[in-house]
Parts: sequence; structure tokens; C-alpha cells
Amino acid sequence: MSKIISLTKRRGFIFPSSEIYGGFASCYDFGPLGVELKNNIKKAWWREITMKQENIVGLDAAILMSPKVWQASGHLTAGFADELVECKKCHHRFRKDFLEKNECPDCGGDLTEPKKFNLMMRTFVGPIEDENSMAYLRAETCQGIYMNFKNALNSSRLKVPFGIAQIGKAFRNEITPGNFIFRTREFEQMEMQWFCHPKQADKFFDYWKKERMEWYLDLGIKKENLRFKEAGKDELAHYAKRAVDIEYKFPFGWKEVEGIHNRGDWDLSNHSKNSGEDLKYFDEESGEKYFPHIIETSAGADRSFLAFLTDAFSEVKGGRTKTTESTKEIEYVLKFHKALAPIKIAVLPLVKNKPDLVKVAQKIYKLLKPNFSCQYDEIGSIGRRYRRQDEIGTIFSITVDFETLEKNDVTLRDRDTMKQERVKISDLVETLKKQLDV
Ligand code: GAP
Repeated sequence: MSKIISLTKRRGFIFPSSEIYGGFASCYDFGPLGVELKNNIKKAWWREITMKQENIVGLDAAILMSPKVWQASGHLTAGFADELVECKKCHHRFRKDFLEKNECPDCGGDLTEPKKFNLMMRTFVGPIEDENSMAYLRAETCQGIYMNFKNALNSSRLKVPFGIAQIGKAFRNEITPGNFIFRTREFEQMEMQWFCHPKQADKFFDYWKKERMEWYLDLGIKKENLRFKEAGKDELAHYAKRAVDIEYKFPFGWKEVEGIHNRGDWDLSNHSKNSGEDLKYFDEESGEKYFPHIIETSAGADRSFLAFLTDAFSEVKGGRTKTTESTKEIEYVLKFHKALAPIKIAVLPLVKNKPDLVKVAQKIYKLLKPNFSCQYDEIGSIGRRYRRQDEIGTIFSITVDFETLEKNDVTLRDRDTMKQERVKISDLVETLKKQLDV
């Protein structure tokens, strides 16, 4: 992990938040390459869910909602709380279920009795800070979907079964955030709620479980690093009848990246009861009226970012570029899937002190830039520049050399095979579009 964390900082993927003030409690910022990678993950998810699948519409609901939502959803009560214990000696606090022994892991001191600690983040809306103005930052994006169940149904003329998808920030006052961006207090979720007839819930649960696993595999995560984990009855969240996690084998162990949940009619029936609004679905064909059951797929954008990053990370002992052939220095390569790589193409003049080469290279860069995410780099030896591009996972490097001036072609170097082929400048855009699938 320490190698990955240092690479992400060095190359501009992730920075500690508020760093010049010493950072801030497990908060992170996504840098120039990080934002591209995260956007690509979200784009791949959105495309998969709202375009590849049928009958799923999108939504972007507000983060702030009526506190009544959270009362009805069960998040303000014991259901959405972790057990907190405090060391009587050093006063460090821990989640009880994370401890292996009943003593402080930092100093060995005695612990207090566990107290329930609610995870909702509070804020105040308006100028007066009292009980009546208290509101919450959403702890899961799906509640915004339930609030708009009827709106989406009626405005989009949907019929059960159908889905609503949303990507957005969620907040939880985690007692023990950690493992870099794995567990933070502010994070992003990619959630889809599938509304179906109660009798079809099991069938769709199995369908979504399979689909979601395939998404990670299609985007290049190695099969041996993914698995399902069925939650035991005592591990289920307060809303879930059944839950299966997709887990990834992180350097710190197997951990959840996504949950597939059968939420039954928990949400729609509770919101119906509490709001007085009838959220039952009327099936015009059968004449049946019922609460659709919900199969939820809930992925973390940050956690899958970490999984994609970890899986792509590889170390090679020299030899990928001329500069390391003899030294056998360690080289890092991020072998991202082409849909996820933050930079697809690097344009490199062989040397920077030959104006003719630089001129052509810049022209090619300008030609490609509107079509692909590109970088232009002329600093350092060509070997060093390949190495820099490998480290950020760039799929292709284009080198403009002396032959280019005579033949109007360039070398195209593939990150993974390191093979170089010559391509005519006039064919570049089409060739790259084909290879990159864009
Ligand atoms: N709506 C259901 C729900 O929120 P969850 O299992 O609590 O279910 C779903 O969360 C996903 O959200 C997790 O699999 C994880 O990827 C992400 N997630 C949850 N808490 C997180 C945290 N503190 N930091 C980063 N990601 C988190």
C-alpha cells in the first residue's frame, strides 16, 4: 500500500486534503489524474447501468433532504450506529467490532462499555442553530431515489420492473476511517435501485449479483482478486433481507467494494407510512396493487477506484525502457483498462532541441487532443518519458523521430506489450479510435 500511496501522490492521483494545514481527518482530494480516473469509473458505471441495461433511468437528487426521510428510513435510530468503545487510559476511540481483544490496541488499557454511536453527519439549515434547523448530510444516495420513486415512475412512464440510478456523495461519521481512501467520512456512491414484483425479487437478486461481478471483470480486475461474500443474518443492515458483498483482495485483506441488497419493501412501505403518500404501484394489466420490492446494487466510487488502482499496479525489475536495461531499477506500471486509463495517449518528440521534430509533435498533439485525453511531454530522455507514462498507465506513446520528417509516420508504443509499430500521421486518429474503442 505504501508504494501505491506514494505513487498516487507523486503522479497527481490523490492528495491529502488541506495538506498545508497538516491534513484533515482521513479526507482526500483527487488530483489531475485522479479526477480523470474517477470520472472514467463513473462514466463506465453510468454507461453500463443506464445504457446497456434496459429500463433504468438516472437521477441527481439533493444531498440535503428533509430529516423526516432519515427518521423513516431507520438511519436516526439504533439501526445505523456502530458500537464505540474508549480507552480509559489514552482515550483513543475504536469501533468495537474492529477489535480482536477487549483491550486498547494502542496502549493495552481497559476499555469503557460500548456505546451506540450514530453515523449520520449533522448540519444546520438557515441562520438559527437549534433542534428545528438540524439536518443531515445523506448517508446513502438511494434515499433520494426513494423520494423520487413516484416522480420518475410517472414522468418517464415506467413499468415495473424498472430501475433508477444515481451517482453522488454520501457522508458517514465513521468512528475509525482508514486504509487510505477505503473508509472515509465523505465518499461517493454509485447506486441503482431495481423495483420489481415481490415474487421476482430472488430472480433479480441473482441477475444483478452476476451482472455487477462481470462489470469489474470486464474492466480488467483479475478474477482471483474478486469474490462474493454472503452476509450472515446477524450482519445484515437494518433494511436488508439479504445481502451479498463483492469483495476485492486489497493489500490489507478481502474487503467489500459493493453490496447487492434485497431491501424488500422496507423503504417504500416505511416512507408511505411516514409521509402519508401512497407509494404502492398499480399494475394496470393485472389490476394488482403492491409495494415493489427493491434489489439494490450499491458500489463505492472511491473503493472501486482503490481496487482498480491496486489491481493495475505492477512492479517490474528494469528492462522496460533503455534507461533501466542495465540498472535493473524497479519500474512501476499501472495497467489500467483502456476505458479507465486517465491518459490514453502521450505525444513525445524524440528530442526537444530539434525544432522540426517539436513542431510536428505539437501538431499531432493538437490533432489528437479533441478526440482523446492526451499529454505532450518533451522533458528528459525518451526512456524516462516512457517510464513516466507507464507509471500513470498511458495506453499508447507516440514518438516523433527523424524518420517522421521523411515518411510522415510515427511510432506507436503499446504500454503492455512495449511493441512499437509505425503508423501514418494521416491514419492516426482512426487507428487510435479503433484501438481505444471510442
Ligand atoms: N445504500 C446501501 C448502502 O449504502 P453500504 O454497504 O453501507 O450500503 C455501499 O455501502 C458501498 O458504499 C460500500 O460497498 C462501499 O463501496 C461504499 N462505502 C460505504 N461506506 C463507505 C466509507 N465510509 N468510505 C468509502 N466508501 C464507503
